[in-house]
Formats: sequence, structure tokens, C-alpha cells
Amino acid sequence: MVGRMTATSSLDGTVLVTGGAGYIGSHTVRSLREAGRDVVVLDSLELGRREAVIDAPLVVGDIADRDLVVATCNEHGVTQLVHFAAYKAVGESMEQPAKYWRNNVAGSVELYEAAMAAGVQDVVFSSSCSVNGTPEITPVTETAPIHPESVYAESKAMVERILYWYGQTSGLNSVALRYFNAAGASFDARIGEDWAYSQNLVPLAMKAVLLKDRELSVFGNDYDTPDGTCIRDYIHVADLADAHVKSLDYLGRGGASTAVNVGTGIGSSVLDVLNATAAAAGEPVPYSIAPRRDGDPVTTYADPRFAEETIGWTAQYGLTEIIDSAFAWHKSQVDLGR
Ligand SMILES: NC(=O)c1ccc[n+]([C@@H]2O[C@H](COP(=O)([O-])OP(=O)(O)OC[C@H]3O[C@@H](n4cnc5c(N)ncnc54)[C@H](O)[C@@H]3O)[C@@H](O)[C@H]2O)c1
Repeated sequence: MVGRMTATSSLDGTVLVTGGAGYIGSHTVRSLREAGRDVVVLDSLELGRREAVIDAPLVVGDIADRDLVVATCNEHGVTQLVHFAAYKAVGESMEQPAKYWRNNVAGSVELYEAAMAAGVQDVVFSSSCSVNGTPEITPVTETAPIHPESVYAESKAMVERILYWYGQTSGLNSVALRYFNAAGASFDARIGEDWAYSQNLVPLAMKAVLLKDRELSVFGNDYDTPDGTCIRDYIHVADLADAHVKSLDYLGRGGASTAVNVGTGIGSSVLDVLNATAAAAGEPVPYSIAPRRDGDPVTTYADPRFAEETIGWTAQYGLTEIIDSAFAWHKSQVDLGR
């Protein structure tokens, strides 16, 4: 391993947040600023919203624009990077793989090269539990086999390996956070997930109950689970944001590069989510049972122990807070006519 590039702590500098106008990125920008960190956001705004950044400095541009990244890092004194910017639609990745190789993989290489040229020492990367594919054993640990089942998941696994090799060749320090199912919104309902861009269960359940113009499809109710529906580990976006703040602290204190699962360790079924949504809304979620989907893991949830041991993080919130905050956010957007 090559040593640190400078003697000063990377914690004294600014954090560059790519994709900071998106869902998880915007919550992380807020958490970083609340923790007293200086932040600059780089986002193309292709899938993000300017208003989600609130009043943090925003540079509109592409992660693959090397000159822009170097200039942004130099201008703002960037020492650490949180890299969210990517495409994330699994189905689209199978139809348009080149779009994912270019943006998620090649774009990350360009970004890391430029960031390192500008003196960035630490990277926190948005990876995904999907790098493990259908898990053989639950809860899922960080040593579970890497077995991506889509172009999207492979793009995340590849960038994890690229970061490993930058650690070997250039001394870049990194934490790859493997998120489980991100959900929920800020507790003041100021920022949340844009349901126009999301195929995730929680925003779809909110759409079904708030717009009342559609039935939600539940894909399979005959699985070998207590209520027959698939089980996932839903993690509040505020908890996810906190995991990034703690990962940057860990790296700034000299922590070794690693990959960390970010989940609660608790599995909730599709029907658990719909029941919690009905409780928040005060009325049932309209749904119908559809056939199972190919490639849907039956059950997956994280073993969160390594996250606590390394970055000192554990989830603070559960399904009720996730659903209540998501409902409040989506209802506020509907009330505003968005
Ligand atoms: N949402 C989840 O459940 C989940 C789970 C696992 C991993 N992830 C990963 O977390 C990250 C953030 O996810 P999200 O849900 O906040 O997504 P998002 O789509 O809301 O945010 C991504 C942001 O990146 C920006 N962006 C995309 N390509 C860019 C580029 N080339 N240059 C500059 N900006 C660009 C978009 O405009 C958007 O604002 C992604 O890397 C995603 O793959 C998300």
C-alpha cells in the first residue's frame, strides 16, 4: 500500500458529493453540513433536482468532465469524495448495457483519476447489496460471494474492484457502502424520493394510495415466507446519510479500505410495507397479486455487525419511521401539485 498523500487530515477539507441532487445524495449533503462539513455538489441534474441541494454549492456538470472535476476540487479545497452519481434502473441496464458501462464504470474511472490528480485522498462509493445477487445465506455478510445478476449490479461490483486497485496502485482510501433498500424521506418532509424516476416498492405504494388511479402489483404471494411475499431490508435514507458521514470520519482517521453492508438486519415483507402504508394513510393500499418476477431473491437482509465494528454505525429507524416519513413527503408533493 502507498501511504497518505499529505500529512494533514482529509477531514479538514471539503467533501465533493457527486449525485448530490439525487435522492440519497441530497440527504447526505444535509447530514454532512449538519455535521459541520463543507460540501460541494456535482450533479448533471439529469435525474436530480436543484432544489434538493437546498443552499449547498452546486456545480452542474458530468463526473466524466475531468477539467471540471479538477477545477471544482481545487476551487473548493476538496479532500474527500462521496460518489453517488450513476444510473440505477436494473431493467434498463439489461436493455441498454453500454449506458451503464459508460456512466457507472467509465464515468467513475474518469472521476477518480481527476479527483486524485486534485489531491483527493478518500472515497465513499455507493455500492449495492445487489452485488451479492440472490444470497445463499441470510443475513448477508460482507464475505458473501460476489454474484451480480444484472448489468447494473455488475457495474457496482466492477467499481468496487477498481477502487481496490486504486488503493494498491495510488493509495486511494475507500469505503464501498452496499446499501440494502433505501426508503423514507427527511423528517421535515423537505426532501425525499422522486416517484417519477423510481420503481421501488415504497414510492409505488405511496402512489397507489395517494393517487388512487392504479393498483399496485405484488409479484408473488406463494413464496416460502410467513405471508408468502418477498422479504427485504428497508433502510431509512437518514440512516444511510449518516453511514456516509461516519465512513468519511473513518477514512479521515486512517481506516483501511473496505466494503460495508448498510442495512438494519431486519427483513420486512411486501405486505408489511403495504400494511404500514395503510396505517400511515388511514386507508388500504389498492393492490393485486401478479406472477413472480424472474430473478427476484425471496429473502435478503443485512448482517449489520461489520458496519458497527468498522465505521461505528447502526440504523436508528425502522419500517414505521420509513413509511410515515415517506407518506408525509409524498403527500406534501401531491398537495403542491407535483
Ligand atoms: N436507491 C436505492 O435503493 C439504491 C440502492 C443501492 C445503491 N444505490 C446507488 O446509490 C446512488 C444514488 O442513488 P439514488 O437513489 O440517490 O439515485 P438518484 O437517481 O436519485 O441520484 C443519482 C444522481 O446522480 C446524477 N447523475 C447521474 N449520472 C451523472 C453524471 N454522469 N454526472 C453527474 N451527475 C450524474 C443524477 O442527476 C442524480 O441526481 C446510485 O449510485 C445508486 O446506484 C441506490
